Amino acid sequence: MKMNIGIFDSGIGGMTILHQAMALMPHENYIFYADTDHVPYGIKTREQVVSYVDEVIRFMVQHDCKAVVIACNTATAVAADLMRSRYGSVPIIGIEPAVKPAVAESGGKRVLVVATPLTAHEKKLRKLVERVDDEHLVDLLELPGLVEFAERGEFVSDRVTAYLKEKLSGYALDRYGELVLGCTHFNYFKDTFRDLIPQQVHMIDGSLGTVRQLMRVLDARHALLDPLTTAETDWDMQKNDIRVRYFESGREITDKAKLDTIRRLHERLENMRKI
Ligand code: DGL
Repeated sequence: MKMNIGIFDSGIGGMTILHQAMALMPHENYIFYADTDHVPYGIKTREQVVSYVDEVIRFMVQHDCKAVVIACNTATAVAADLMRSRYGSVPIIGIEPAVKPAVAESGGKRVLVVATPLTAHEKKLRKLVERVDDEHLVDLLELPGLVEFAERGEFVSDRVTAYLKEKLSGYALDRYGELVLGCTHFNYFKDTFRDLIPQQVHMIDGSLGTVRQLMRVLDARHALLDPLTTAETDWDMQKNDIRVRYFESGREITDKAKLDTIRRLHERLENMRKI
């Protein structure tokens, strides 16, 4: 019986989804894969990203995954449909910018979608916007710099603030109702976004929707583990750590210092979840 839920991203952004999944399904077993050899995806060509994603999904299939989550908006936009046709035996769940709920909830105000350049240029996002944005309220802004800051572990700094201030300076933010975090790396910066955008602008991302979809897919296949027959059900980082194996481009992370860094990233994500 296949035991693991595979979750991957180009880097640490996908931990946003892992963190959410662990909160809702603490008794499941996870493989988290950060493709650090190839990060960032968002400024590469489509062909490059397709070949990286193919390699990761093959790895997940070989590692007994009952479902694979592409915890990356960029990789989903470029490769999810193709991977579904290549790997029919395993369900593949993607993440896309939460444009639809944002437009629905903006109360007629404008919606700013922030994403990587590749996501912003992909047909998939353009089509999604066309479908839901009847009143032409949606603007797209590329923020590739945040992926680099995140991978360096630089989450709160004068440079991060200056970068975002400069990028947001062209927008009359008092006319906006929603900010869509359309890249999983961006959740690490919610505190700085919050400081820079007016109070009425609400931040939204696709992580909860993605994990709910994962749960629906597993449930339909009767592949969810029963919490009552698994040992631990409480949210507890120490205990849950044994249920997650972390990989960097296929190499398992066993080094204590790196695992400590991962623990701190979970703590940061937990704090960001409350914003
Ligand atoms: N975290 C990814 C996303 O959601 C991509 C970041 C990157 O590698 O450029 O789009």
